[in-house]
Parts: sequence; C-alpha cells; structure tokens
Amino acid sequence: MNSSKKIFVLLILLLVSIPLLALAAPKKHSEVSEEQECADCHTQQQEAWQNGKHGPMGVQCVVCHGSLDTTFFVQPPIERCNGCHADKVADVQKKKSPKLTCASCHDKHTLATKTKTPFHKKGGN
Ligand code: HEC
Ligand code: HEC
Ligand code: HEC
Ligand code: HEC
Repeated sequence: MNSSKKIFVLLILLLVSIPLLALAAPKKHSEVSEEQECADCHTQQQEAWQNGKHGPMGVQCVVCHGSLDTTFFVQPPIERCNGCHADKVADVQKKKSPKLTCASCHDKHTLATKTKTPFHKKGGN
C-alpha cells in the first residue's frame, strides 16, 4: 500500500470508530444549577433513600452516583460500595456472575432485601 492509501484506510477506521466511542462514553446528567438539590427533582428516590438506612446515616446520592458533571453513574457499579461494604462486595465477586449486583437482592434506595435466602459470609463489613 502506498502512503496515501494507508491514510485513507486510517481515515475510514476513524470514522467507523467515532460512533462506537460515543456509545462507550459515560452518560452525562443534564445541566443542573448549583442551588438545586437532587431531591428537588427526584422526590421519589429521595423518599425511598430516606426510608432506608443510607438516608438517616447520611450516605449521600453522590456517594453512589458520583458528581453530575464528571463522574456521573446512572447505574453505580458495585465498586462504589467497596469503601463501606468491602466484604459484601467480595461475596458478590466470588460468585463470578457478571449479572449479579447488589440490586439483584437489595432495593437500590430503601435497601430492603428482596430474598430470604441467606447470602453473605457472617461477620465483616
Ligand atoms: C433540575 C432537576 C434535577 C436535579 C437537581 C437533579 N436531577 Fe437527576 N435527572 C433530572 C432529569 C430531568 C433526568 C432525566 C430524566 C429521568 O430519567 O428522570 C435526570 C436523570 C437522573 C438519573 C438517571 C436516570 C436514568 O434512568 O437515566 C440519575 C441517576 C440522576 N438523575 C441522579 C441525580 C442526582 C444524584 C442528583 C443530585 C446530585 C440529581 N440527579 C439532580 C433532573 C434533575
Ligand atoms: C447506595 C447507592 C445509591 C445511593 C446512595 C443512591 N442511589 Fe440512586 N440508584 C442506585 C442504583 C443501584 C440505581 C439503579 C441503577 C440501575 O438501573 O441499575 C439507582 C437509580 C437512580 C435513579 C434512576 C431512576 C430509578 O429510580 O431507578 C435516580 C433518578 C436516582 N437513583 C437518584 C438518586 C438520588 C436523588 C439519590 C439520593 C437521594 C440516590 N439516587 C442515592 C444507587 C444509589
Ligand atoms: C459511605 C459509606 C457507604 C457506602 C459507600 C455504601 N453504604 Fe450501604 N450502608 C452504610 C451504612 C452506614 C449503613 C448502615 C449500617 C448499619 O446500620 O449497621 C449501610 C447499610 C446498608 C445495607 C443494609 C440495610 C439494612 O436495612 O440493614 C445495605 C443492603 C447497603 N448498605 C447496601 C449498599 C450498596 C448496595 C452500596 C453501593 C451501591 C452501599 N451500600 C454503599 C454505608 C455505606
Ligand atoms: C444473592 C442476594 C444478595 C446479593 C447479590 C447481595 N446481598 Fe446483601 N444481603 C442479602 C441477604 C439475604 C441479606 C440478609 C442477611 C444475610 O442473609 O446475609 C443481606 C444483607 C446485607 C447487609 C446487612 C447485613 C450485614 O451483615 O451488615 C448489607 C450491608 C448488605 N447485604 C450489602 C450488600 C452489598 C453492598 C451488596 C453488593 C456488593 C450485596 N449486599 C449483595 C442478599 C444479597
């Protein structure tokens, strides 16, 4: 291949990969002004959160969802739980089942356990 052909091939590859990159990029939250609290717009989630232990214990929305501008997660990965529940995260990772997340068994905001079958190793955090 001569060099102009090589450049042409590279250009095609680049054009093909742009939409793929867009798909892989993390989803952004719409713009929100500084004075607005999550609860102003997400009342339902705020109430559910307040009815579980995370609300009263002050485990804020950003702890799981990240900040709205840079590290926003629509679906927080289980690594977000590591700081406080490392042993529970390890219990899940041991299963080596990519579909299993904390939300498979716990309501995402009230944290209510959806199953009666014991799961976690006793003790630990
Ligand atoms: C000014 C209103 C407003 C504020 C304030 C706001 N949001 Fe949102 N949020 C929205 C809208 C509108 C959407 C997109 C529509 C939807 O899915 O509800 C959205 C979407 C989301 C989603 C994704 C929903 C989905 O299924 O795609 C999450 C998670 C979320 N917001 C979390 C937060 C958190 C956490 C905060 C506070 C740090 C916050 N939002 C502050 C209006 C707001
Ligand atoms: C312990 C982690 C955690 C905390 C704290 C948390 N969320 Fe979530 N949130 C999740 C998970 C997990 C999902 C489900 C994502 C999915 O669809 O798999 C979710 C989903 C959402 C959604 C999408 C709509 C829905 O109900 O599924 C919104 C909006 C949202 N959260 C807002 C909030 C707000 C506002 C707060 C604070 C009051 C908050 N979250 C606190 C973990 C958390
Ligand atoms: C900043 C620390 C922190 C993070 C991060 C955190 N949690 Fe928690 N979590 C707590 C605290 C504090 C409690 C209450 C412990 C208690 O009362 O014994 C709790 C309790 C729970 C409970 C038990 C609820 C009950 O009613 O007994 C579940 C389930 C839970 N968290 C799930 C999660 C999941 C899933 C994530 C990640 C998406 C997460 N947590 C991230 C601090 C955290
Ligand atoms: C397959 C179901 C299942 C999955 C997945 C799961 N849990 Fe649980 N979880 C339970 C059950 C059942 C209980 C009640 C106590 C028990 O049996 O261990 C519980 C209890 C808890 C408790 C409170 C009890 C304690 O020992 O402090 C916390 C905190 C918790 N889970 C966190 C998590 C976190 C964080 C994840 C994800 C990393 C997760 N769980 C994933 C089923 C599950």
